[in-house]
Amino acid sequence: MSTSNPVSALIQPLGEMPPDSVVFGSTEAMRLLRERLAKIAVANVPVLIQGESGTGKDIIARMIHSSSPWKTGPWVKVNCPAIPGTLLESELFGYEKGAFTGAYGMKPGRVEMAHRGTLFLDEISELDMGLQSKLLQLLQDGQFCRIGAQEDKKVEVRVVCATNRKLEEEIAAGNFRSDLFYRINVVNLHMPPLRERAADIPQLISYFLEYYNRKFNARAVHPSADLMNSLKKYHWPGNVRELENLMKRYVILGTEESISGDLRPREVDFFSADISVEGPISLKKITRQAVRELERKLILKVLQHHHWNRKSAARALNISYRALLYKIRDAGLPSNRAPRRPEQVAPAANNIVAAD
Ligand SMILES: Nc1ncnc2c1ncn2[C@@H]1O[C@H](COP(=O)(O)OP(=O)(O)OP(=O)(O)O)[C@@H](O)[C@H]1O
Ligand SMILES: [Mg+2]
Repeated sequence: MSTSNPVSALIQPLGEMPPDSVVFGSTEAMRLLRERLAKIAVANVPVLIQGESGTGKDIIARMIHSSSPWKTGPWVKVNCPAIPGTLLESELFGYEKGAFTGAYGMKPGRVEMAHRGTLFLDEISELDMGLQSKLLQLLQDGQFCRIGAQEDKKVEVRVVCATNRKLEEEIAAGNFRSDLFYRINVVNLHMPPLRERAADIPQLISYFLEYYNRKFNARAVHPSADLMNSLKKYHWPGNVRELENLMKRYVILGTEESISGDLRPREVDFFSADISVEGPISLKKITRQAVRELERKLILKVLQHHHWNRKSAARALNISYRALLYKIRDAGLPSNRAPRRPEQVAPAANNIVAAD
């Protein structure tokens, strides 16, 4: 396809990916996932990828595309909460000339762009009810309607969805259509959290160490046995993304102290005087951990209070929006919980966190 074609111009490249051996590691849960992926990639059925934030849902979606018979076709990713609700319908389904004020020409939607390829709908729980109905129609008979069009169009597309929420709970709360859930959930892949595949941690560490040493032209050495022990024991609330960020910081700063403070055991109360004083204690280290812990808890509380509207949360915390996005990632908090009411959705800047 030529690049002057407006459709092909918007189709995204698949991007760099770690080798399969690194992605799957050697734990049983990942071996089963790999087996499942190989079977489902070749069949044109919808796939739902579920798992906590940072477990690799994006990578797996790309692998499904690249192992499918449609791998030479388009790969189209839509990060649902990153596009304000009112724009999402036209982004997904396109529009005809004159469909609404400002529609000076027709525009094909991303569903159409994904023809004979893969449409990846990330954070699917964020679709509002109207769009859920349109998606249901697409999955039922491969048809959809551009906004303002008289007739339906037909498209052949493999739909892959991902979410870090429990869709069953969203259904119970009346936020997600159960009939759509059954359609997108023909095959389900569950990404195990990193704490359940601790045996894979050393290999991931070696991979990220080498990768970021190369990228930053650095020479950080392999972590000591002590640090490796803490890395293996840590509970990784932000999963592989948190591990990757930590290794990036380690490579850039080059000292073990730059990351060891983050590897606090779960539920340690740094504010209590019960901290063991047997053996040497580092006041500096404990104070730093306490500050980070307090910061994490406070950010979480403010985000919840502001219904995950990160712009309002940043204002309330009196820090910049960018600083908040950085801190959310760094603390391993969920990256994307945009509210479903369009007027509360922050504009495209949401992409900063969503894009990997
Ligand atoms: N198994 C893995 N092997 C190597 N790198 C991984 C693996 N899983 C995740 N990563 C890395 O961790 C980061 C986060 O992964 P990814 O974006 O796929 O997670 P996600 O589950 O989609 O998270 P979110 O729910 O926040 O969107 C990426 O930089 C990715 O390259
Ligand atoms: Mg993702």
